[in-house]
Amino acid sequence: MPDDLLRYRSEFPILEHTNYLISNSLGAMPRGVYDALKGYAETWATRGVRAWEERWWMLAAEVGDELGALMNAPPGSVSTHQNVTTCQAVVASCLDFSGKRNKVVYSDMNFPSVMYFWEAQQATGARVSMVKTGDGVTVPTERMIEAIDDKTLIVPMSHVIFRSSFIQDAKAIIEKAHKVGAYVLLDTFQSLGSVPVDVQSLNTDFACGGVLKWLCGGPGVAYLYVRPDLGKKLHPRFTGWTAHQEPFNFETGPIRYTDPPYRFMNGTPHIPSLEAARPGIKVIGQVGIDKIREKSQRQTARLIELADERGWRVNTPRNPEQRGGTVSIDMPDSQQVCAELIKREVLVDFRPKAGVRMSPHFYTRDEELEAAIATVEEILRERALAAK
Ligand SMILES: Cc1ncc(COP(=O)(O)O)c(C=O)c1O
Repeated sequence: MPDDLLRYRSEFPILEHTNYLISNSLGAMPRGVYDALKGYAETWATRGVRAWEERWWMLAAEVGDELGALMNAPPGSVSTHQNVTTCQAVVASCLDFSGKRNKVVYSDMNFPSVMYFWEAQQATGARVSMVKTGDGVTVPTERMIEAIDDKTLIVPMSHVIFRSSFIQDAKAIIEKAHKVGAYVLLDTFQSLGSVPVDVQSLNTDFACGGVLKWLCGGPGVAYLYVRPDLGKKLHPRFTGWTAHQEPFNFETGPIRYTDPPYRFMNGTPHIPSLEAARPGIKVIGQVGIDKIREKSQRQTARLIELADERGWRVNTPRNPEQRGGTVSIDMPDSQQVCAELIKREVLVDFRPKAGVRMSPHFYTRDEELEAAIATVEEILRERALAAK
């Protein structure tokens, strides 16, 4: 069957000379970014300071809405930030850890930056309860549910685990959290753009992520969804003039909060990154998450099959319903193999306790999967010969 999605390949210059299997880390740059950044420079050069009122001030919310459309978030509910760690800080600054409800529950498969952030909040009264993975691939839902109790304030969890691509049962965890009065901050960095995300049907309180991986949006833009009914009630202490009702009145004294999304922002927005993010967000919307997911399930299954045939360990769920867009393969000497793959224009990465992460995206040809595995074999053969 012809692969209809391959028509988007010409939009991504790097695909002309690399086997680009690294959307779990940095998605390929859409050609449109050249024009987007040129447009940014033109605006700055020709409009100068007027650019703020003509375009730039509104951009953070516009990009938030474009991202919101991909996750079924209502307009005005998504703010933009520099990175996911900052999003954690904004949410934490809405919470009070000085009371009895001060527990933070997450799994040890969370992204480390998120863990470092919440660990550090212990200085403000937070108590961290870390749920352990049994197998290094999955997070047992029952253990998460068990750990969430009436002392829990927040559950910062990954939707898709970065190491293994395991899809957590966010719905079940959110339901339990709500039953006991806790919030969930769902990190959709490794899901949005690859796996369907619907913040309203999940009923998550908060969702965050960045655009540089599956959304092909480049570094410098993260998003924070806040459930609209909550958004109007919360008062982030990590705040600034962007969150003020009348930022250009330059009032002294305490802040008078404006409505979301600006309510959750703080200082001057990151305009060049916001401009650069738009072509990727647009193309993902055009391709459609359902089509991306369907292809991803097929291609990740093929990668697992290829690894199995060679007896390499696969650190990713075999059940397609539990698997995101990445396959982590722990072949012999995987760290060295990874370095060599990159030299040979097969772009992948290595993570300890995972192996080589390979992430086909909508722009990947089936033959590229076979080619990547053949290159691994070639490298292993050469290493074996050199060791003799
Ligand atoms: C699930 C997840 N969360 C967060 C991050 C990164 O966080 P930040 O945007 O703060 O660098 C990553 C990867 O870079 C990730 O895979």
